[in-house]
Amino acid sequence: MTELPPALGLTPDQVEAVLKAASLAPSVLNTQPWRFRVLPDRLELHPDLDRALPATDPDNRELRLSCGAALFNLRLALQGFGVRPLVDVLPGHAAPDALAVVRRGGDFAQDDEMRALLRAVPARRTNRRPFFESGVDARQRHALVRAADLERSRLHVVATREEAARLKDFVRRAHRIQQDDPAVLAELTAFTGHRPGAGDGVPPASAGFRPEAQDEWTFRDFRPGGNHDRPPGKDYEPDPMVAVLCSFHDNPFAQLQAGQAMQRVLLTATTLGLSASFLSQPVEVRSVREELRRALGSTLVPQTVLRIGFSTPVPATPRRPVGELLMEPTDATG
Ligand SMILES: Cc1cc2nc3c(=O)[nH]c(=O)nc-3n(C[C@H](O)[C@H](O)[C@H](O)COP(=O)(O)O)c2cc1C
Repeated sequence: MTELPPALGLTPDQVEAVLKAASLAPSVLNTQPWRFRVLPDRLELHPDLDRALPATDPDNRELRLSCGAALFNLRLALQGFGVRPLVDVLPGHAAPDALAVVRRGGDFAQDDEMRALLRAVPARRTNRRPFFESGVDARQRHALVRAADLERSRLHVVATREEAARLKDFVRRAHRIQQDDPAVLAELTAFTGHRPGAGDGVPPASAGFRPEAQDEWTFRDFRPGGNHDRPPGKDYEPDPMVAVLCSFHDNPFAQLQAGQAMQRVLLTATTLGLSASFLSQPVEVRSVREELRRALGSTLVPQTVLRIGFSTPVPATPRRPVGELLMEPTDATG
C-alpha cells in the first residue's frame, strides 16, 4: 500500500482509491501525463511535462484533454465517498502550475447516474476492434450528447454522408502527414509494441488491426509489432457513429473542460454497453484541424474525434502505480 496522508476527510486508503480512479482515465498513447499532490485540505492535479509528446501534441492540448479526463474520474471517485468536489481549474497563485485544485465542498448525496458512471471507470477502455453493424440508437445518442452538455462542451454527431466523407478525408490526409513525420513516428514507437513490464503505452493486444487500403476510416497505425494482422473477413464497419467532441473556446481552460466532457461521454457510453475509439489525426495536425474547425462552423472548436458502437470486450491497458504519480507535499506553496 502506498504511503499517503489523509485528505479532504478521507482515509489514506480512500485517497489512494481516488487517485487510482483518476489514473484509469484514457490518455494519448497511454502516456498518463498527470501527477497529484495530496495535502490535508486539497488534491492538486498537475501535468507531467516529462510525458508530453511535442511532435504529436505540440501545444499540449491532448495532454490537457487527458488530464481533464483524469479530473472527471477524480471528481466521481470523491462523490463515491460522499464528498462534494469543489474544483478550481487553472487556480493560478493558489497552486502554481496546477491544472486543477479540488477541495471538499461539503457532502455529496449520491444518485444512480453517479454510481453507474463510477462503476464504468474500471470497465471503460478504448476498443480498436471492428464494431458490429447494429448502430447506436437515438436514445443512446441523446445520452451521449447530454453527457457532453453537462460538462459545458458539445458532442457534434456526424449526421450526413457528405459530412462523413469530408471527415474521412480529413482523417486520411492528417494520417498521411503524420506517417511522413519521423518525430511523430518516434513517439509512437516509444509507447507501442512489446514493452514487457511497462506501466504505460499501448500494448499489441490493445492496438487493433493494421490499417488497410480498403478501410473507410483510417485508424492510428501503431507500427510493426504494435498492431495485429487482420484475419480474413474482419474488416472495419464502414459507417460507425462518429462524433466530434468540441469546446466553445480555444484555450487551456476549455481543453480541461473538454477532457472532462470526453470522459463523461466515454463513461456514459460504457454504461450503455457501447465501445469507443479515437480518430485523433485530424485534430493533431494543425492545418487539418483548422479545416475541420471551419467545416464545423465558427463557434465550435474540435478537441477529439470518437467512433462509437457495439463490439466485443478488449483487455485493459497498463497503468503506473499510484505511488509513481505523487508529488512531494513539501513542494507545496500557499
Ligand atoms: C486525447 C486522446 C487522444 C487519443 N487519440 C487516439 C487515437 O488517435 N487513436 C487511438 O487508437 N487511440 C487514441 N487514444 C486512446 C489512448 O491510446 C488510450 O486512452 C490509452 O492507450 C489508454 O487505454 P484505455 O483507453 O483503453 O484505458 C486517445 C486518447 C486520448 C485521451
